[in-house]
Amino acid sequence: MSPREEVLAPATTDTAEAAEDASLRPRRLSEFVGQPELKERLSIVLEAARRRGQAADHVLLAGPPGLGKTSMAGIVAAEMDATFRITSGPALVRAGDLAALLTDLNDGDVLFIDEIHRLARAVEEVLYPAMEDFQLDIVIGKGPGARSLRIDLPRFTLVGATTRTGRLTGPLRDRFGFVARLDHYPVEDLLAIVHRAAAILGLEVDGDGAVEVARRSRGTPRIANRLLRRVRDYAEVRCDGKVSGSVASDGLALFGVDDAGLDKVDRSILGAICQRFGGGPVGLSTLAVSVGEETETVEDVYEPFLLQLGMLKRTPRGRVAMPAAWRHLGIEPPPEAAQLFDQS
Ligand SMILES: Nc1ncnc2c1ncn2[C@@H]1O[C@H](COP(=O)(O)OP(=O)(O)O)[C@@H](O)[C@H]1O
Ligand SMILES: [Mg+2]
Repeated sequence: MSPREEVLAPATTDTAEAAEDASLRPRRLSEFVGQPELKERLSIVLEAARRRGQAADHVLLAGPPGLGKTSMAGIVAAEMDATFRITSGPALVRAGDLAALLTDLNDGDVLFIDEIHRLARAVEEVLYPAMEDFQLDIVIGKGPGARSLRIDLPRFTLVGATTRTGRLTGPLRDRFGFVARLDHYPVEDLLAIVHRAAAILGLEVDGDGAVEVARRSRGTPRIANRLLRRVRDYAEVRCDGKVSGSVASDGLALFGVDDAGLDKVDRSILGAICQRFGGGPVGLSTLAVSVGEETETVEDVYEPFLLQLGMLKRTPRGRVAMPAAWRHLGIEPPPEAAQLFDQS
């Protein structure tokens, strides 16, 4: 990376790899691979707003990490030819933080609040009238002398992203005109993402190489890009820099990504449930402690894919390892475990 690029890179991209990440981000709806229903619906919402010369309705994007929520938020701004302003739930500590941001907006701006489920209640309450009536209520002074002041805000579009729709309060969710859920990507889409990323990175990847990466990327574009970079490292150091099927699979194996795309943490989660807790049920927090990860990380990052693979099941009494998990670990489940498989 040249010094100039470094200066121009956003503050969060403090490594060359993060800067590369930014270059892989799709900028327009047409570059965003997959999620056809979401793209079609969103393009209609945006086109209609453009024709009316209005800001688009507020958009909520929900789904596991790495599926393209932040990218899609940026796309909303780009497609509306609007200024893109970014913040996140945890960054807005007091009501005043959000008020300052809102009063600084211009007509048509797109305000992106990442991790919107983590907004403090007092901050969320400022957001209600802002979203609904484009108004801000501020209280000046304290006690009996306090006065309430109402300020008109510009017409802006709020784009919220969350890994947990369930954590969002009803009143907040209801104020979004368009709610979309991003799902894990099928292998064909991941293949397209790998080829697109390889082209941007100037990396030579053949069909088999791309399949190996796509297949093991847990339905997640961010992971596909990350695995591709590890495979590139391996190909450059150990081979001639070109990524074939065998180079990809050897490289991924070296970095601890197994044939199903599970990494060390996934395997230790399954290993803990099967070996330490007899197949389950085991409570989420106990499980998280036993693999040395945050509860939220286990729930948001690791579990969705294990659930999707049918290796894990969430039950009211805790997490249960399913037959596919035992098979994957190559262990025979004890007879008692069998009764766990068909209860729900
Ligand atoms: N649909 C997509 N098409 C192409 N690349 C994608 C897509 N979705 C995500 N990506 C890639 O994955 C990375 C992570 O996406 P991001 O929008 O940050 O996900 P999220 O905000 O949901 O965690 C992006 O930088 C981009 O390179
Ligand atoms: Mg994001």
